[in-house]
Amino acid sequence: MIKAIAHQALTVSNMEASLRFYCEAAGLVKAFEIHDDDDKPWIVYLKICDNQFVELFYNGEKDPNTHYASDLIGYHHFCLEVDDVEAAAARLREHGITEAKVSQGLDMNYSCWVHDPDGNAVEFVQYHPDSVHTKSRVSSNQAKEANLLKGIAHMAFVTKDMEKALHYYCDILGFKEVFELPDEQGNPWLKYLHVQDGQFIELFYGGERSYHNQRAAGFAHYCLEVADIYQVAQLLEQHGILEVAPTQGKDFNLQCWSADPDGNKIEFMQIDSRSPQANC
Ligand SMILES: [Fe+2]
Ligand SMILES: [Fe+2]
Repeated sequence: MIKAIAHQALTVSNMEASLRFYCEAAGLVKAFEIHDDDDKPWIVYLKICDNQFVELFYNGEKDPNTHYASDLIGYHHFCLEVDDVEAAAARLREHGITEAKVSQGLDMNYSCWVHDPDGNAVEFVQYHPDSVHTKSRVSSNQAKEANLLKGIAHMAFVTKDMEKALHYYCDILGFKEVFELPDEQGNPWLKYLHVQDGQFIELFYGGERSYHNQRAAGFAHYCLEVADIYQVAQLLEQHGILEVAPTQGKDFNLQCWSADPDGNKIEFMQIDSRSPQANC
């Protein structure tokens, strides 16, 4: 039913600074812009690879309380897959992002963590051939362009109630739980849900503090690409979790909306062949 993570949307406080970070340093390509009904700049779309984007909304308020903290329920970070994480880190350092350093995680993969101009954590990962991520691939991944960036590897959230989150993501949306990782003390730490080969939802245990500032710079929503929007909307409706019924967006795509039990907004999108996403 669900094909892929299609985009990650962030509200930004300074578009110029964010474009320097995401395009010049991180290697995404500015693809197109969408204006609002008053014809004011509204969204800038950055291309990661075919069919995968970061969507930047203008006019967020910079707010340190919304940023990555393990006790904060909700958005944690997003992660981009690369072929060569040392090359990615070197490129980030060349652009003044001195914190860019590669380390090997508990899951064997090589990662580099940095923060965008609003303080959002962004991870770059190069999969180890023996990691659980690599082993969970059920079929060979489509050949991606020989590019620095291969795609969105995962979206990560801290959940207040793992059982509720698993019910939503696995029982209703149909993702499969593929593995879990304990922390260094051996306590439950995170679970991985398979979206498509090489793409996951990462759910961390814990989180107490809720934070809701709609205008804050930071995570806005993420988007799952689907084959049939009406089928998905019907399923969401049956479970009482459809928040906005299917409509056609300014970009021609059909979209509907839900939110997971922790309140993270999720857009479902059926891509239209006339859309800028399909033609850039
Ligand atoms: Fe991660
Ligand atoms: Fe979106």
